[in-house]
Amino acid sequence: MKFIAIHTLLAATAIGLSLSTQGIQSLVQRRLPDHAHNFEFSLVNVSQHVTNDSYVISSTSEGKILVEGNTLSALSKGLHRFLTDVAEVDFYWFIGNRLNVKSSFPQLSEPLSGQSIVPWRYHFNTVTFSYTSAFWTWSDWETQLDWMALHGINLPLAWVGVEKVLVELFQEVGLTDDEIFTFLSGPAFQAWNRFGNIQGSWGGRLPYTWIEGQFELQKKIVARMVELGMTPILPAFTGFVPRAITRALPNATVVNGSQWNGFQAEYTNVTFLQPFDPQFAILQKRSIEKQQQLYGNITKFYTLDQYNENDPYTGDLAYLKSISQSTWQSIKAADPDAVWVMQGWLFTSNADFWTNDRIEAYLSGVNSTTDMLILDLFSESSPQWQRTNSYFGKPWVWCQLHNYGGNMGLYGQIENITVNPIEALSNSSSLVGFGLTMEGQEGNEIVYDLLLDQAWSSTPIDTEAYFYNWVTRRYAGASSPPQALYQAWEIMRATVYNNTDLTTNAVSKSILELTPSISGLANRTGHHATTVTYDPSMMKKTWYLLYSAALVEPSLWSNPSYQYDIVDITRQLLSNAFTLHYNTLMSTYKATNATNATNADTNTSRQALLDILRTLDKVLSTNTHFRLTTWINAARSLAPEWENKSRIADFYEYNARNQITLWGPQGEISDYASKSWSGLVSSYYLPRWAMFINHLSSTSVEYNQTAFEEELRDFELEWQSRTGEVFEYAKLKDVMDEVFVSGYTFSG
Ligand SMILES: *[C@@H]1O[C@H](CO)[C@@H](O)[C@H](O)[C@H]1NC(C)=O
Ligand SMILES: *[C@@H]1O[C@H](CO)[C@@H](O)[C@H](O)[C@H]1NC(C)=O
Ligand SMILES: *[C@@H]1O[C@H](CO)[C@@H](O)[C@H](O)[C@H]1NC(C)=O
Ligand SMILES: *[C@@H]1O[C@H](CO)[C@@H](O)[C@H](O)[C@H]1NC(C)=O
Ligand SMILES: *[C@@H]1O[C@H](CO)[C@@H](O)[C@H](O)[C@H]1NC(C)=O
Ligand SMILES: *[C@@H]1O[C@H](CO)[C@@H](O)[C@H](O)[C@H]1NC(C)=O
Ligand SMILES: *[C@@H]1O[C@H](CO)[C@@H](O)[C@H](O)[C@H]1NC(C)=O
Ligand SMILES: *[C@@H]1O[C@H](CO)[C@@H](O)[C@H](O)[C@H]1NC(C)=O
Ligand SMILES: *[C@@H]1O[C@H](CO)[C@@H](O)[C@H](O)[C@H]1NC(C)=O
Ligand SMILES: *[C@@H]1O[C@H](CO)[C@@H](O)[C@H](O)[C@H]1NC(C)=O
Ligand SMILES: *[C@@H]1O[C@H](CO)[C@@H](O)[C@H](O)[C@H]1NC(C)=O
Ligand SMILES: *[C@@H]1O[C@H](CO)[C@@H](O)[C@H](O)[C@H]1NC(C)=O
Repeated sequence: MKFIAIHTLLAATAIGLSLSTQGIQSLVQRRLPDHAHNFEFSLVNVSQHVTNDSYVISSTSEGKILVEGNTLSALSKGLHRFLTDVAEVDFYWFIGNRLNVKSSFPQLSEPLSGQSIVPWRYHFNTVTFSYTSAFWTWSDWETQLDWMALHGINLPLAWVGVEKVLVELFQEVGLTDDEIFTFLSGPAFQAWNRFGNIQGSWGGRLPYTWIEGQFELQKKIVARMVELGMTPILPAFTGFVPRAITRALPNATVVNGSQWNGFQAEYTNVTFLQPFDPQFAILQKRSIEKQQQLYGNITKFYTLDQYNENDPYTGDLAYLKSISQSTWQSIKAADPDAVWVMQGWLFTSNADFWTNDRIEAYLSGVNSTTDMLILDLFSESSPQWQRTNSYFGKPWVWCQLHNYGGNMGLYGQIENITVNPIEALSNSSSLVGFGLTMEGQEGNEIVYDLLLDQAWSSTPIDTEAYFYNWVTRRYAGASSPPQALYQAWEIMRATVYNNTDLTTNAVSKSILELTPSISGLANRTGHHATTVTYDPSMMKKTWYLLYSAALVEPSLWSNPSYQYDIVDITRQLLSNAFTLHYNTLMSTYKATNATNATNADTNTSRQALLDILRTLDKVLSTNTHFRLTTWINAARSLAPEWENKSRIADFYEYNARNQITLWGPQGEISDYASKSWSGLVSSYYLPRWAMFINHLSSTSVEYNQTAFEEELRDFELEWQSRTGEVFEYAKLKDVMDEVFVSGYTFSG
């Protein structure tokens, strides 16, 4: 590390960054131990760092790779550039480290340089913390944080273990533990509790040991973030409090929030302490002070969402302005440098309430422009920055949301995530970052990489070359990837990854994950579309190319990227086939006799539906990333090692199961976060479809969805509290050979 003058040190700490390259050296040590001595990192031009990050990579006379950059984020992004573009290796979420598949790296004949086009690269949706990382261990977080650093992310949300501080605040105002713990939600539902959509926990109470465990994680997470050049965004006090607040503070001015998604009042209508109440500022100051004591002075960014899918008490403009003004003043009183970070989702989801004059009133309560940062959460499909005139001048981030609830369809909008952010940059002077706000981290990793790389390119990325290079490193290993792999991804680039019909505007869902019905399943549009937006025969072609690649190059069967991708693509193929057979069944059923599905005409499609589900389960079972048990075991393993371990583990398992199925005690948003996972298909979706088919055939009266769902609900409720289920795992190549001869790849 080069000598850094004291004034530059001060300049850099003013933006909350560490000035030691030790963190990135440790990253290399973790991921590339055999090459660690070959990399050198140096911070240069730090004092000139105004907005954009930049790096220069070169080979030294001693044969080392030298990465110079003006920030730590520039250094890790520069390292990634060398690894992906020169060494042709990469690091993935799910699959993890593939940087070490080659024994030697080439030298550079000329230096390579790069510059970000925006100062900030943001990561996380508030709900990713529940849909994806709810049950992560430190080792999972280490993978995630290295991935983020390498991809140039420098502004991540950091709200694991928030409840630690919250519980202390509530205790300080005199709430009893009983009043506090009946307010907190279960481990799989904390995100929605934190911004006032839900309160309380069904199926059991959150144990304090969970809060302690998450807090221990958070301490490590924020320290690692800082070490890797990321500025964590910490939570501010939102105002959502237990109902009993008025017992502890009789004078507190409170209102109830709105009802969320049909939950009973016990679990929603969360009590909101009005920000102009003097107690609000006191709690805000304590909240921020406590975090500074716990984590150090590491950030000036605070996340605070008051009205996420939760409408204000009134739409009165003066009221809205006074709310944000008091909120902002409370944050500034606690930290004079504070910047309030807010998800702009409310302006999309509750657009009827949030008219432009209300948005303007609410945002104008913060009268210093740079004290706010707004995440335009769904920029690729439903941007709000144009209609709000760039949030009336407040800084904002262009974000790709891409999927809801971690749904799993293959999907992307490669045109919109390359062309649109560049256009936005030249049309909005307050655009300061690009970011990822996926509800769940799922498949489709290429479209997340693409936007993060777009943050370092001032012209829209050429996706044809991008996909080609991505494939080269994706399957890096024993030998060079067969041509068939490039052809497969080129088909996907033009089909699944090039959706331009924005009636389907996010990752699609498979109808096999939905409550069976004789209508309303296929061709759904919107956030959880079931429409197949491309010619389905293209998926068969893709599958065959992928499969044939392993016939040419059998080492692919043991390549983790290939193992993952062929399962994911087969999943899509079978999902499409399922829809086709379902449509056939329904049209035959309706044409012949709507009260009778026992006739021979429907026999083939009925059998096919159940066969597809059995095959699909087998396919998914070959890979740990597609198994229900992975999710459940992660949840159970976080229970402590004491006598009631099994009771707490059972509660965690109930949470894990409930989130991906009924999502609520009574199926309030059933199947929202559905997953095509082995074990879930065989033990949940397959029985539901078998019951449906049975219902169709056995009923002597007209099909009745209400009656069917009543029958179904007993089964679904029983499934929630199962434990100790054991599933079988198949072998990848055997299953793929079976799929090949099954006919799904040719017809149906
Ligand atoms: C945190 O660090 C910043 C930048 O050095 C400084 O302005 C601020 O006063 C510090 N805050 C606290 C609470 O120490
Ligand atoms: C540092 O500044 C010099 C002079 O402006 C420039 O040539 C070099 O590329 C810069 N390096 C980085 C990593 O920004
Ligand atoms: C940062 O990058 C953008 C996009 O290339 C450019 O317009 C801007 O001038 C750069 N800012 C600085 C301070 O160099
Ligand atoms: C509540 O308000 C009443 C009337 O303004 C006042 O007399 C009382 O002292 C307040 N109580 C608390 C705990 O602040
Ligand atoms: C909950 O909110 C809904 C509006 O969303 C309202 O009609 C209902 O009265 C509220 N219930 C309670 C207990 O606040
Ligand atoms: C912002 O609001 C504060 C108090 O709410 C006021 O003192 C200040 O003058 C305002 N600044 C501007 C630029 O309007
Ligand atoms: C994506 O679709 C758009 C609109 O149909 C088309 O103009 C563009 O060429 C397509 N891109 C690819 C890679 O197929
Ligand atoms: C990009 O998104 C906009 C909506 O903001 C839509 O009108 C447009 O068709 C999309 N373009 C492409 C290429 O998908
Ligand atoms: C869905 O749309 C496809 C293509 O437009 C059509 O063939 C099919 O019949 C539709 N299915 C339903 C159930 O409406
Ligand atoms: C179907 O069967 C029912 C009961 O057997 C009968 O009433 C009805 O007319 C039949 N409908 C058609 C379209 O054949
Ligand atoms: C349904 O079809 C089966 C076989 O075709 C036939 O035996 C039965 O009578 C039919 N039932 C009704 C209610 O139409
Ligand atoms: C459908 O089933 C429900 C619940 O069993 C029942 O209340 C309703 O009357 C039935 N509808 C018809 C049209 O039979």
